[in-house]
Amino acid sequence: MQAWTPSSWQHHAAEQQPDWPDADGLHAALKTLSSYPPLVFAGEARSLQSSLAQVSAGNAFLLQAGDCAESFEEFSANNIREKLRVILQMAVVLTYSMGVPVVKVGRIAGQFAKPRSSATERIGDVDLPSFRGHIVNDSLFDAGARTPDPQRLLQAYHQSASTLNLVRAFAKGGFADLTRVHAWNQEFVASSPQGRRYERLANEIDRALHFMRACGVETESNPALSQVDIYTSHEALILGYEEALTRQDTLTGRWYDCSAHMLWIGERTRQTGGAHVELLRGVGNPVGCKVGPSMEAPELLELCEALNPSRVPGRLTLITRMGADVVEARLRPLLRAVTDAGHPVVWACDPMHGNTFSAPNGRKTRHFDDIVREIDGFVRAHRAEGTWPGGIHVELTGENVTECLGGADAVSDTDLDHRYETMCDPRLNARQSLDLAFRVAELISGTTV
Ligand code: TRP
Ligand code: MN
Repeated sequence: MQAWTPSSWQHHAAEQQPDWPDADGLHAALKTLSSYPPLVFAGEARSLQSSLAQVSAGNAFLLQAGDCAESFEEFSANNIREKLRVILQMAVVLTYSMGVPVVKVGRIAGQFAKPRSSATERIGDVDLPSFRGHIVNDSLFDAGARTPDPQRLLQAYHQSASTLNLVRAFAKGGFADLTRVHAWNQEFVASSPQGRRYERLANEIDRALHFMRACGVETESNPALSQVDIYTSHEALILGYEEALTRQDTLTGRWYDCSAHMLWIGERTRQTGGAHVELLRGVGNPVGCKVGPSMEAPELLELCEALNPSRVPGRLTLITRMGADVVEARLRPLLRAVTDAGHPVVWACDPMHGNTFSAPNGRKTRHFDDIVREIDGFVRAHRAEGTWPGGIHVELTGENVTECLGGADAVSDTDLDHRYETMCDPRLNARQSLDLAFRVAELISGTTV
């Protein structure tokens, strides 16, 4: 293997890269980006990695959640806060009912790029470049909007920086304080069955805090109770952008991709000799890789070897996205092979991407029951193989959208048009997300709270 450098990926085949027509503009934007400050620090990526090591050892659980794709238009404090509220609600349900720490990672502050099945899209007799996420172009079917624009790389950086700033403020500045556990329950959620279930759990937490206070434990100024760590992650897709933010850590001399704490490689770009694996194999961040139903054990082992040859616990998260019908059968041999090869990975379940279909009205959707069924199959496979079902990776929003079917208030396919706002894949709404957290806690701990 050739020596790794932040640009060695350029000698490998890179799938899913936009055709930037303005080469000078691209060069200038990347140059500017590489002069900008890093968005995260290497030490934070290391903290996440040690938390993930706890997950790989079966002592913690990973909750990775957020938009399919973040938008340049839906960018507001409100939007970020509502998303964090749901993530905190889910985290508190999981922590309380499973009795293990929950590692919180957002698909946030950089989740802008989307892989596409086709480079162009045809409507009528017009062919235009496919929409690749706001870091590249706009979704509007118009020649100007669809032309990849390098200025968007800079806008993605700036939006990530301000999102991350707010995420940090919410995580450390009081919003995430356990004494505010009731306040995370939004009105339209509180009125639902799962919202009421959440209220009961929140009451129990209140009582536990009261009890601790009565015992003399200082609960007010205790960061373990008043603060959380929320890490950021996105799919490392646009390699020029990721390279520009790859920096050498002054403390250790190692390279880190400082665009996010954790980066993952998508199902479409995970070729072992490919450019995406090449870039991420050399950075010190914890990395993820999506694993679809066609993956066979030898290929997966090759990938583990490429991304984590030293078998560092927490370095590699395998995010399986198989489809509810096949997950149990497809996953078991992979669990066995990876365990036998001594790879200490985190196994996370993405129950969304293997269960997408088109509703009769043409809307891309997912059924809540399939999502739960995939997690069920995932847990069964792990039970059978004696491995730890380490986490979930879900697409959600804090808004009251109607994009996924089912759930406790039974979104039906005629409801989909009501509030279908995603730019990309259908997301769970706040109620469905909370519902899911309760179901996951039941599936994994085998008890009901
Ligand atoms: N700091 C702990 C944790 O992150 C407890 C905690 C504080 C917490 N606020 C929270 C847990 C909000 C879940 C949600 O786990
Ligand atoms: Mn998606």
